[in-house]
Amino acid sequence: LADPRVLPEELLASPLALAHAGEQAEGLTLPLDLFGTARRNSAGVDITCLAQRAPLEAAIALAQVPAVPLADAAAVSAAMATLHAGFDGWNDRPLADRAAVLERAADALEARLPEFCGLLVVEARKTLGDCVAEVREAVDFCRYYAQQARTRLAEQELPGPTGERNTLRLHGRGVFVCISPWNFPLAIFTGQVVAALVAGNSVAAKPAEQTPGVAQRMVDLLHEAGVPADALVLLHGPGETVGAALVADPRTAGVCFTGSTAVARHINRALAAKDGPIVPLIAETGGLNAMLVDSTALPEQVVDAVVQSAFRSAGQRCSALRLLCVHESIADGLLEMLAGAMRELRVGDPARLDTDVGPLIDAEAHAGIAAQVQRLRGEARLIAETPAPQALPDTQTPVAFELQHIGQLSSEIFGPVLHVVRWGGAPEDVVRQVNALGYGLTFGLQTRIDSRAERLAHQARIGNVYVNRNTIGAVVGVQPFGGEGLSGTGPKAGGPHYLYRFCAEQTLTVNT
Ligand code: SER
Repeated sequence: LADPRVLPEELLASPLALAHAGEQAEGLTLPLDLFGTARRNSAGVDITCLAQRAPLEAAIALAQVPAVPLADAAAVSAAMATLHAGFDGWNDRPLADRAAVLERAADALEARLPEFCGLLVVEARKTLGDCVAEVREAVDFCRYYAQQARTRLAEQELPGPTGERNTLRLHGRGVFVCISPWNFPLAIFTGQVVAALVAGNSVAAKPAEQTPGVAQRMVDLLHEAGVPADALVLLHGPGETVGAALVADPRTAGVCFTGSTAVARHINRALAAKDGPIVPLIAETGGLNAMLVDSTALPEQVVDAVVQSAFRSAGQRCSALRLLCVHESIADGLLEMLAGAMRELRVGDPARLDTDVGPLIDAEAHAGIAAQVQRLRGEARLIAETPAPQALPDTQTPVAFELQHIGQLSSEIFGPVLHVVRWGGAPEDVVRQVNALGYGLTFGLQTRIDSRAERLAHQARIGNVYVNRNTIGAVVGVQPFGGEGLSGTGPKAGGPHYLYRFCAEQTLTVNT
């Protein structure tokens, strides 16, 4: 089971074979993840994904992206009126009921994994492995926030003087606007929406224009699981019109946004310019994520982590590695190994299980990235480029360039493009320069000196620091995810403090 590409056919054939693969995976591997949805063998291969290959392939063949209506100003206003009226009813439902709705949604989504994977492959062009991981992440968000709500949002008695009873209660804020990106059109979309819902808010959800179909199916599923029609309304359309109208609406009580730093600023300004209540913004934005490799690091481990972090999902993750900082004493050998690994990556059809890197989200994204790669060809040294078997539409093959210094890195390239710099001197200087970039989402450290890892992690003004591993794929409830500085406002998705930001609090003091 070391390599999914050479799996014997019989392991893929039947449910019995599936059970067998599962058994073989057991003793070798990471156990089930926290919520029991991921099963990997010792090589990190996703056993469930392999075993479900036949239904997944069938689902891709059958996948049809639903047609969706585009909202206009009148539709936004009508939706906000509905949600405003629906808020009290949903917010007044017992917390346990709202949590149970999320758990029913999790069960339904898990049961429909192949269907959602098919839709993700077709609409979002994600590779099959990424799709399975994404559906699981969405399931985890539902279960985790349900569990968190039950414990963290429950009413609390506070100590007080004799003759007085003090209680702290949390409730929804009103209508929450959730605006989500195309790169995790199911997981991030669902995470935002169910967090806002379970806290008691009604929700106006606006998915990315590129991926309306996945959002539509998920909202249908949430309604079937018991979210009332007047507590969740989906609105499709451009951010410039539909997103802007939602943000501007006087009934908006909070905004949760994941996307670019520039758009988050724009939303922040629009909210600040409004009269009426001060509306909170939760923003998770971009990153210029780095990995620091010192001379004690294990080269094989580094290369594996770099390939995963920089090129998986075609680099279209906010967590993806953009800047590799390698100690000069090991740079030549390490970069040669990296070039070798990059030549082995398979670029191609996202529907195939053995594809490592699929196409970019659309032609516009491809044109922008191709122009930036062209610029880099003139300005930097090409280290390696993954060969493509043929010209593939909207596809950027993984590519790595060496820069002279970190200052040459200007902005995030949202694709499989890696920048490399060599460093000498003190690693603290490298961290200082990384901090100075202003982003603070993910950071990788590769070192066998534990005290150094501890010190540098402490120095980094960065939300998620990963030592001696890749820097992507934060697990809900295990690696709460989100950054600081230009990377966002916090709180961390999939973390214990997330739900509080969707709530208003009331202290009830009763003179007894
Ligand atoms: N949560 C994702 C990751 O960790 C990015 O959005 O890769």
